[in-house]
Formats: sequence, structure tokens, C-alpha cells
Amino acid sequence: MAGQIPQRFIDDLLARADVVEVVGERVTLKKAGRNYAGLCPFHQEKSPSFTVSQDKQFYHCFGCGAHGNALRFLMEHDNLRFPEAVEQLAARQGLEVPREGADDPHAKAREKKRQEGVNLLELSASFFRERLAMSEGRAARDYLDDRGLSPEVVRDFAIGYAPDNWEALKRHLSERGVSEAVQVEYGLLVSREDSGRSYDRFRDRVMFPIRDWKGRTLGFGGRVLGDAKPKYLNSPETPVFHKGRELYGLFEARQANRQLERLVIVEGYMDVVALAQFGIRNAVATLGTSTSEEHLQRLFRLVGEVVFCFDGDNAGRQAARRALDNVLPQMIDGRQARFLFLPEGEDPDSLVRREGPEAFNDRITCASPLSEFLFEQAAQGRDLQKIEDRERFASGVLKALRRLPEGVLKSLLLGELATRTGIDSSRFAALLESGGKSEAQAPEGAEPSARGAPGEAERGITASASTRNGSLGLMARTLQLLVHEPTLVERLPAELDWCADNDSDGSLCREVIRLLRAGRYRSPQVLLAHFHGTAEGQRLQALARRELLIPRAARAAELDGLIEHFRRQSSAAAPETEINELLARQRSGKRLSSEERQRLMALFQIAKR
Ligand code: UTP
Ligand code: MN
Repeated sequence: MAGQIPQRFIDDLLARADVVEVVGERVTLKKAGRNYAGLCPFHQEKSPSFTVSQDKQFYHCFGCGAHGNALRFLMEHDNLRFPEAVEQLAARQGLEVPREGADDPHAKAREKKRQEGVNLLELSASFFRERLAMSEGRAARDYLDDRGLSPEVVRDFAIGYAPDNWEALKRHLSERGVSEAVQVEYGLLVSREDSGRSYDRFRDRVMFPIRDWKGRTLGFGGRVLGDAKPKYLNSPETPVFHKGRELYGLFEARQANRQLERLVIVEGYMDVVALAQFGIRNAVATLGTSTSEEHLQRLFRLVGEVVFCFDGDNAGRQAARRALDNVLPQMIDGRQARFLFLPEGEDPDSLVRREGPEAFNDRITCASPLSEFLFEQAAQGRDLQKIEDRERFASGVLKALRRLPEGVLKSLLLGELATRTGIDSSRFAALLESGGKSEAQAPEGAEPSARGAPGEAERGITASASTRNGSLGLMARTLQLLVHEPTLVERLPAELDWCADNDSDGSLCREVIRLLRAGRYRSPQVLLAHFHGTAEGQRLQALARRELLIPRAARAAELDGLIEHFRRQSSAAAPETEINELLARQRSGKRLSSEERQRLMALFQIAKR
């Protein structure tokens, strides 16, 4: 790997860099006397206590004490390690970072070449950004405005404009000593075969820089302002840009979220940016390709959950099947994948504008878990009342399960397959191990019981491990009932005021109810799969494993009793009740003791909150 960066270079770099410019690209700054001021990006605040000094070349927050120079800012804000921050800062100025004592000459040459390309790309990105701000960028600014993008989002995504000119970028880069050959190699110039002359690839287009997760520009996507074709022009394959590997918006998503847990995968540049405009800042897009295993490997290194977002049409369904295929091998414990289908004719951009971000977020929350989509896929066009269809269904599911790594999800799905086909799961386990040789054949002698027979639903869950020890809290018992028998949700009152959300079982219970009500989860396994890989999932799993000792016929009444209890409790706990009692006593002429008066004061305080 690369060696040490010489201190001389770092000093020199800081002397040339301008902290106001670096910060200003990430925080909106206003001139305030000699300094600049803005809202601190390191803590939540409403009035600006964050200042940047051009003279002293540092930033300081009077609110939280964050403090440092341009490098420190890049490290803290962009989440970079020191050498990465140095590279970023150097790239802005077209400088190559020297390394001391890098031993492997090949690695060194490779690194030099990569660096050369990165610098050139960074120079181009700044060029496009500057042009957008100039008078020739007027039409592009209007276009972005028409599409509802604010200057902040345009800045966050470093969107720019390539002028309507055959040599604008070429001149800009050549003046800075970048050879034409390198410009061609990195896809910025197109070289004509006949004359050997080269010209700008991107002309009169809105430019979206595609950055790696650290923020280095790798390539560009450029959109026409009107209806000309092709609508989007992308960088070709270059030494640093591989279309099938990169994801648009990954860097920006990491920027916007200190703790990124979930990423939503959409189709287009504009979808990513429009969602960000509405505050949904965790979307990424593949670049006109389907989601590859490599994409997913990258994503799962950063987050535990991905939500695929597809158009509701046939092409979307097909893309979803490919995504399912690619994601299966990645589903080790702790990871989640879900599938979201949009209404026909909509993309995330159009939908979030029409429905608003809350509705879109609800769609994300209620996206089908992998298990559900998998079963739905396998069941499509089949009548599961028929044995033959049920076999084909089972073999379809088994085929997918073979691609899954060993783990909880696989056992859950096997259990669910058993429930849905009425065939014992031990048979499937055997089929899986035999590598599917007998896959197409019916598991012999497995005469499936009729769907919905009593006791069937809980077989997959309770038969395996029954833990009877310890007594459960009342909220846990409620959850346990719902996990074992999700259809019970229909008995619950519409209002959830009885369900306290100040403890973990209570808030989990609320979420479970919300999901069940969203109308999709009617089987215990699918519910568990939704939470698969999370702490909530483990809690539900534990409750699911506990045998439910209440006979099926008595469960509804048990649930009603629990709710009744919670309701009484929550109304007793309401301060109003006690206040009214105390006030009534006062009015009836009794003097309140000093303790009672203090209590009354305290209750008023509570009630006001
Ligand atoms: P879409 O045509 O769905 O684009 O292509 P979009 O994002 O909705 O674009 P707007 O809303 O009209 O601006 C989806 C993705 O496919 C790739 C791009 O990555 C695009 O974002 N694509 C599309 C191309 O590479 N070239 C094209 O000509 C069209
Ligand atoms: Mn669109």
C-alpha cells in the first residue's frame, strides 16, 4: 500500500486550501463581519453558532465546540480517515499526493495513474459546477428549478452543467496540463477515428457526478435539458469507472446520515435526487443496469437493510426477480432485503412529488420482505389447492433456498414452506441437502393436509423448541399472541392508546400491529422474516418459540382481556383523572393537605406536557 504522506506536502496543501470554500460546499454560510456563519453541521441547532474564519483558516462552533482546519472538517464531516481527507483536498487543487517509501513499484504506478484520473475528474466536476452558476448555465438552472430541485440539493449532489460547446472542457483541462490522451481515457473527450481530433463528450447537459463512497468523482451522467436522445449519457468504462459496480448517491447518502441503516435502491439519477429533495436521503441508483451481486456486496458492507424499489409494470417485476436472485446468496443473518412495487406509471421522483414524503416512507416501511416476495413469485400462476402445482411451487422455493446461506432465514423459510404446502419440513431439509436431485419429484407419501386445518399454523413454530420457563409481562403476552396468531389483530381497537410506547415491548407491539394492519402479514413466519436480523426480530423469535399454552378457542378472549386491562391502566395513569378527583374534593369544601396541594401542582405540570 501507499507510504506516508510527507508533512511538507500537508503544510503546503493547507496553505493553499481555503477552509471557507471547503465548508461552504457542505454548509450554507453567510458573511458575518470578518467571518462566515452558518448552522453547525455537527449538532442540531436553529440559530447559527458555527463560524468559519478565512484569516485564521479554521472553523469553530460556539454551540458544541467543534473546531479545526480544512482537513479536520473533511474528516469529521465526510467521515474520512486522514489520508483520505488529504487526497480529497489535494484533488480539489489538481495535486497528486506524494508518498514516502512506497515500495512496490507496480502498486506505485497504479496508484499514480489512479490519482491522475481522479484529479482530472475532480477538476472536471468543479468546472461543471462553476459553469452551472455562470450565465451560460441559466437554462440548466431553470431546468433544475422546473424539476423542483432546491439550490441546497443541487449543491449536495454537486450537480453541474456542461456548456454547449465542443471544446470548453478540453480547453479548461489542457490549460491545466492534462494531456488529451488522458482526457480521452477517462471518458471526458471523444476522439474521432478519422481525423484523430477530439471533442467534449458532454455538451449542453445537466451533469451528475458519480462519486464513490468516499466522495471521489469517478464519472458522470449527463441529462439533456429537453427531449433529445439519448436522454442520459454516461461516462464509458474507464480505469476508475465501472458501470456495473458503482451506485449513484451512495456518498451523498452517507453524508446525510451519520448512522446509515437502510438504503433504498431506485432506478434513476433523478429519483435519488428528488427523494433527497423531500428529505428521503438514503436512496441510491444503479446506473442503467440491474442490481448486481457486486452492488449488493458493497451495500451490505455499509448497511444491514436494502429496500429494492421497482416500477409496478412487467419490466419492474422482471427486474425484481433478477434482484431476488442476486440478493439470495447475500442473506446472511443480520441482513434484510425487502421489495417495494410502485403503482404503474410512477417512478419515485413522480410519486414522492404527488404523495409527499410521509406516504412514500410508509410504502418503504410496508415493503414486502424477501420471504413474501419469494413465495409470491413461486406461487404465481399456480393453484395451490392442486397437488401438482403445490409440488412445482415447493420446488421453485427450494431452488431459491439452495442459494441462501445457512441461517435463521433459511430455517424460517423452510418452516413457512412446510406450512404452505402441508409437507413436513424435515423432508424439505433432506431435499435441500441432496442438492435437488429429486427436486422435480413429489415428496412421496407426503399427503398434504388441507390448508387451514386447526393447529397447522403454529406447527412450524412451536413444535421445534418450546420454552415454558419464566412468566411473561402482559405486553409480552400480547405480542406472543399476535406472533402466534397474526389474524387476531382484527380484534384490536382502532386506537392504540392502550399500548404504551415507552417500553420496548410496547413499541414493538405498536409496530407489529401497524404492519399486520397494512394488510400483508398473515403468517407468523412472514412477520418474523420482516424483522429478521434485528433486535426486535430476536425478541419476536423468542416469543414465537415459547409454546402458547392457551387453547386456540380461548385466545381471542385472552387478547380482549389484556387490552381491557391496558385500557383501564392507561386511564388510571392519566393525570386528568387524579386532578379532577383532587379538584372535586377542594370544591366540596375540604381543605387539601400540603402534600395533596403539591401533588396537584405536580399533576398540572405533567398534564401540560
Ligand atoms: P429513466 O428513463 O427511468 O430516467 O432511466 P429517469 O431517472 O426517470 O429520468 P428523468 O426523470 O426523465 O430525468 C433510468 C436510468 O436509466 C439510465 C440512467 O441511469 C437513468 O437514471 N439511462 C436512461 C441511461 O443511462 N440512458 C438513457 O438514455 C436513459
Ligand atoms: Mn423520472
